[in-house]
Amino acid sequence: MNGSKHYNIAVIPGDGTGPEVIEEGKKVLIAAGKKHNLSFEFTEFDFGGERYLRTGETLPDSAIEELRKFKAIYLGAIGHPDVQPGILEVGILLKLRFALDQYINLRPVKLYPGVDCPLKNKGPEDIDFVVVRENTGGLYTGHGGITRKGSPYEVATQVMVYDRQMVDRCLKYAFELAKTRKEEGKPGKLTLVNKTNVLIYVGDLWYRAFMEMACDYPDIETDYNHIDAACMWTVKNPEWYDVMVVPNMFGDIITDLGAIIQGGMGIAAGGNINPGGTSMFEPIGGSAPKYTGKNVINPLAAIEAGRMMLNHLGEKEAAKSIEKAVAYACTKLKSLSAGKMGYTTTEVGDMIAEHIING
Ligand code: IPM
Ligand code: MN
Repeated sequence: MNGSKHYNIAVIPGDGTGPEVIEEGKKVLIAAGKKHNLSFEFTEFDFGGERYLRTGETLPDSAIEELRKFKAIYLGAIGHPDVQPGILEVGILLKLRFALDQYINLRPVKLYPGVDCPLKNKGPEDIDFVVVRENTGGLYTGHGGITRKGSPYEVATQVMVYDRQMVDRCLKYAFELAKTRKEEGKPGKLTLVNKTNVLIYVGDLWYRAFMEMACDYPDIETDYNHIDAACMWTVKNPEWYDVMVVPNMFGDIITDLGAIIQGGMGIAAGGNINPGGTSMFEPIGGSAPKYTGKNVINPLAAIEAGRMMLNHLGEKEAAKSIEKAVAYACTKLKSLSAGKMGYTTTEVGDMIAEHIING
């Protein structure tokens, strides 16, 4: 074996069940490291609801500079029942995405064998696609405002902002991903999802940029769906999708739909990616306060986030080991829902770590 490779990972366990699932995720990364000769140093940051309640601070600018030194951040969950909704989401999660220019939100939707799927007559062969959600633009930029506040004539605007380079870099990532998937034996098809019939400016910008870039990728099959229709087809014919590229807000919505058809928040993970900078990997389910501290939450989503992180770092074999072990666990768990797995949180982590080493 060559010399072992070392990775410094920033960890934000965060709120609620975040710390519990991150613990299992780290356990699994360490097991994959043992198997594939990788070592990890985890540097913890305590950002989240508790710290906010204690200090009034969400994410100081100095923390951004600190986090910028890492290639990867492993995030548990952000959200606290005693904190007004929005403060932590905007002050931590969105702030990180924007400050670190994580312009891609990558969300695989893959149904593992053995997992209950709410779609009738659909199985793992039908549900295997990736959503490339644009992650720093659109309705999330905070452009807009309120005037005449409190009066009957109050006006509020929230503007869907995109410029050409934001659209192009997102499309480029999606086309390249479709190309890589094709090389791996997947269909290699890219579907642009938008709403060109109503968003006559922003939709048009995306559509033209997409069509132009398609000329550089003659081997990639391209398609276009309106977002409302895409929601319908994702339920009726998920096998039509391989890679979907979507503006920020539509991507937020359709990836929850994606999460539920792959087995729910117990397994859905995502990566906030800046290809040349600091990326952040997270289970997308949130902090689940009612399950906190009970050792019942499903750690698979956090483990999947860890797998995506290794993949992003170029450790494809180690990522594959995790994938195989997750697939194995999916055949063992009674359900992916918290409290119904037939195993505790730590037992699921142990099962996967064990399978990586001995499986
Ligand atoms: C997500 C979440 C966030 C988003 C919220 C918590 C700000 O829903 O990661 O999908 O809207 O992006
Ligand atoms: Mn969401």
